Amino acid sequence: MRTQVAIVGAGPSGLLLGHLLRQAGIACVVVERQTPDYVLSRIRAGVLETVTTDLMARLGLDGRMNAEGMIEEGFNLADGERLIRIDVKALTGKHVMVYGQTELTRDLMAAAPDRGLDIVYAASDVALHGLESDAPWISFQQGGEACRIDADFIAGCDGFHGPSRKAIPAERTREYERVYPFGWLGILADVPPCHPELIYSNGPRGFALASMRSPTRSRYYIQVPLTERIEDWPEDRLWDELALRFDGISERGVRRGPALEISIAPLRSYVFETMRHGRLFLAGDSAHIVPPTGAKGLNLAASDVAYLSDALIAHYRGGEDRALDAYQQTALARIWKAERFSWQLTKLMHRFPEDGAFEHRMQIAELDYVAQSKAMQTAIAENYVGLPL
Ligand code: FAD
Ligand code: DHB
Repeated sequence: MRTQVAIVGAGPSGLLLGHLLRQAGIACVVVERQTPDYVLSRIRAGVLETVTTDLMARLGLDGRMNAEGMIEEGFNLADGERLIRIDVKALTGKHVMVYGQTELTRDLMAAAPDRGLDIVYAASDVALHGLESDAPWISFQQGGEACRIDADFIAGCDGFHGPSRKAIPAERTREYERVYPFGWLGILADVPPCHPELIYSNGPRGFALASMRSPTRSRYYIQVPLTERIEDWPEDRLWDELALRFDGISERGVRRGPALEISIAPLRSYVFETMRHGRLFLAGDSAHIVPPTGAKGLNLAASDVAYLSDALIAHYRGGEDRALDAYQQTALARIWKAERFSWQLTKLMHRFPEDGAFEHRMQIAELDYVAQSKAMQTAIAENYVGLPL
């Protein structure tokens, strides 16, 4: 089979890119390792910046998001005793949207057939070839058959563990990494949220986040050591812990209900600067990971795709390659700032095992400063809603 852009991975970055290219009349095929049901069973991010909601609007796929998503005009940092509200709307004139990554993915997947976006699911052994030539191609197996797609370009949208980044020769790559000594244990349940807006808390029992998906569905996370396993956390134990962390500071207190999902995610900061190699372009988690504090992961994937789709469209419309040539540099400028914000907020809100009482007092002093300083609040709000493209 021949196409113009072969996209590896049907996560948010691959699906958004595929739809934007199709909207511009560019031929593309998305090749995904998992089944559609598996892709939709992954519970991940929940907070969308304007960069992401604008792309959905540009595609005309924002109907359900606007009807069911919740506009958030502020959020809270907590120091164990009080809430420090960051009035995002007043400080920046902007807001974020609470709408699950799963729902966004569902909307993009559902619209694919009507818009001629071909997605090959359950493809195994995906491999990339000829990246330094004018005729790159991918190979894979599907239903026992060997398949090949020839293309002008390959977009590596296959997440942190996919094959695209690994296809770049090691001597050409530059990467930076920080692994954190803890993870986030998350629970999703059909119970009303404990507070009308998100709370990131650094209390005496460690970090916790109270988030939501709707007025009747809550998402909570707590910081846990990397040695912890899900089996160590029967639901009652997790609800007890969440009550200890949020009952005193939230408006309504934690309501309990059966878990729809429980998972543990490790925390990492990672940037792979070689986002272009010949005819291969990387976007989203295949090139960078942020710790989830600050909700930047999915939104960074969307900004990469905004740059990359515009650059590919300029290539096909007028043979203009300046944006393609600048893609890596343009994307990295925004990525590093989001990395900085996620790292900073992670350091401010978590208990690090190597830290002592002094470092904790520094965190409390910084939160106290945030509580009193409009300049500090503005800097946090500006980053939280997302820096401009
Ligand atoms: P992905 O969503 O990872 O999509 C990549 C796709 O490529 C997947 O569908 C995968 O199946 C496919 N793929 C992988 N290997 C192959 C292969 N060999 N062949 C073909 N296809 C392949 N961000 C937040 O902001 N807040 C959160 O709470 C949050 N929680 C997270 C929890 C977890 C467990 C993880 C992993 C991420 C979380 N993130 C969170 C980050 C956010 O979900 C990601 O930044 C976002 O999904 C990036 O989108 P992507 O399309 O680039 O990558
Ligand atoms: C959610 C996840 C995040 O990483 C975050 O910073 C805020 C909210 C969520 O899943 O709702």
